[in-house]
Amino acid sequence: MEKTAGEKIAGAWVDRWESASPEQTLAWGKLLSRLLRPGDLLCLYGELGAGKTLLAQGIGRAWGVTDPITSPTFTMIQEYRDQGFVHMDLYRLRRAEEAEGIGVWDFLQADQLVVIEWPEILEEALPAERIEVRLNGSGDQARRIELRLYGGTEERAEAWQKLKDMRNSS
Ligand SMILES: Nc1ncnc2c1ncn2[C@@H]1O[C@H](COP(=O)(O)OP(=O)(O)O)[C@@H](O)[C@H]1O
Ligand SMILES: [Mg+2]
Repeated sequence: MEKTAGEKIAGAWVDRWESASPEQTLAWGKLLSRLLRPGDLLCLYGELGAGKTLLAQGIGRAWGVTDPITSPTFTMIQEYRDQGFVHMDLYRLRRAEEAEGIGVWDFLQADQLVVIEWPEILEEALPAERIEVRLNGSGDQARRIELRLYGGTEERAEAWQKLKDMRNSS
């Protein structure tokens, strides 16, 4: 993956990468997982087949989940309680109001890492402090990956820079 420098755009700290393969996306997810802390919210954006689930799998694995991490397409929420990892896919949620009934907000208040695919339906209600990843491309295309840090960004941005430097120098 090529090295990039981050920049600040409209309140978010933004960094971009390009991934040429599923392996590179997984490796990037592993790096990102080191930035994450219990209680964090990670929102994954991207079209069908962009690699959201793959990324969630890489992060969950790095987070310590040993059970198979499957796409929660139908269950919408999959909790890996022992590791404090929650994986959501809200593609099937039709109205933001339904989020309450399935416990989305309860999970966001708990001290677990929450990863949400298709968070668009909640947009307005999402906490200000969150991390976004946008994946562009599908099929055999290389993926453009954009990381956006919202809220408490200075510290996070520095930590991310350090993680990248460590990797580039090893
Ligand atoms: N560079 C890449 N990064 C991520 N996934 C890739 C890449 N190249 C090909 N793929 C493939 O694209 C598919 C992404 O599927 P998935 O993660 O389920 O997407 P989503 O959850 O966004 O719908 C996987 O089969 C993966 O192997
Ligand atoms: Mg998916």
